[in-house]
Amino acid sequence: MAPEESAEAARLLPSFERRFLAARTLRSFPWKSLEEKLRDSSGPELLLNILRKTVKHPLCVKHPPSLKYARCFLSELIRKPSGDSVTLSESTAIVSHGTTGLVTWDAALYLAEWAIENPAAFAHRIVLELGSGAGLTGLAICKTCCPSTYIFSDCHTCVLEQLRGNILLNGLSLEPDTTDPARHPGHNTYNSESPRVMVAHLDWDVVTAPELAAFQPDVIIAADVLYCPETVLSLIRVLQRLSACLKKQQAPEAYIAFTIRNPETCQLFTSELGQAGIPWEAVPHHNQKLFPYEEHSDMKILKLML
Ligand SMILES: C[S@@+](CC[C@H](N)C(=O)[O-])C[C@H]1O[C@@H](n2cnc3c(N)ncnc32)[C@H](O)[C@@H]1O
Repeated sequence: MAPEESAEAARLLPSFERRFLAARTLRSFPWKSLEEKLRDSSGPELLLNILRKTVKHPLCVKHPPSLKYARCFLSELIRKPSGDSVTLSESTAIVSHGTTGLVTWDAALYLAEWAIENPAAFAHRIVLELGSGAGLTGLAICKTCCPSTYIFSDCHTCVLEQLRGNILLNGLSLEPDTTDPARHPGHNTYNSESPRVMVAHLDWDVVTAPELAAFQPDVIIAADVLYCPETVLSLIRVLQRLSACLKKQQAPEAYIAFTIRNPETCQLFTSELGQAGIPWEAVPHHNQKLFPYEEHSDMKILKLML
């Protein structure tokens, strides 16, 4: 470890020590900083030092915390070296239970890669994802881009059920209910390094402008939601309602990723954006390919200025 790295890592140790000895809630630990350090420094040595300052601390050995607390802490710590991965339960069929949302589509992977290269677009912001499906893009953003709140959404009951399972599978905790206004992002009183994560039942065809405004989104994202003319038109309608969600006089921005399977469908989207008065620009391709997807498929991300 370089001396400056080791000094930075050493600064993390007292934080873990103090919180652990005071049996503070696990979400108050600086997990995000630890993940960053594990990425650029010598992981095993740092983890060993954290163990010495926590479960193996002489005070703790003499007066141990509850077994449950120590076990939860260790599970969280063990998860960190592999914090770069996303684990998903998915269907093996492209369409099942009448939905396309139970598998991960290439545009979700492509958008996740772009996000990982551009974390500033999401950092400390409230992100609302439309048509989340299995949840890959959102999970990657939650793990790497430090959003303050991430709201996954979809309209399909089976998709939402699978999505909740995938969020928990990745060690994120889930807000219990998004329909209660007191739990909406504007009422965020948490001071935690991990994002608040919610799952909302949100159907573009029925959701109202006030319901959307209650989420107070700064950024909207969606992947692979332009697969037929009907969904394009539904999406345009919900984007128009979102453009009225001003926050500090500013409308949210949106990133829509898609695979160009049928050029007419994409043209329909851009011409409908024009008619709705929503300016857009194509986002330049990112550099790094991190996920396995069809090499030759033509994918795009549009940034919309709602
Ligand atoms: C092709 S899947 C994409 C899922 C995910 N974003 C991905 O790229 O892997 C389309 C998703 O949009 C959702 N969807 C379609 N129409 C919708 C609507 N009117 N309201 C909300 N979600 C919708 C579907 O349930 C499905 O999960």
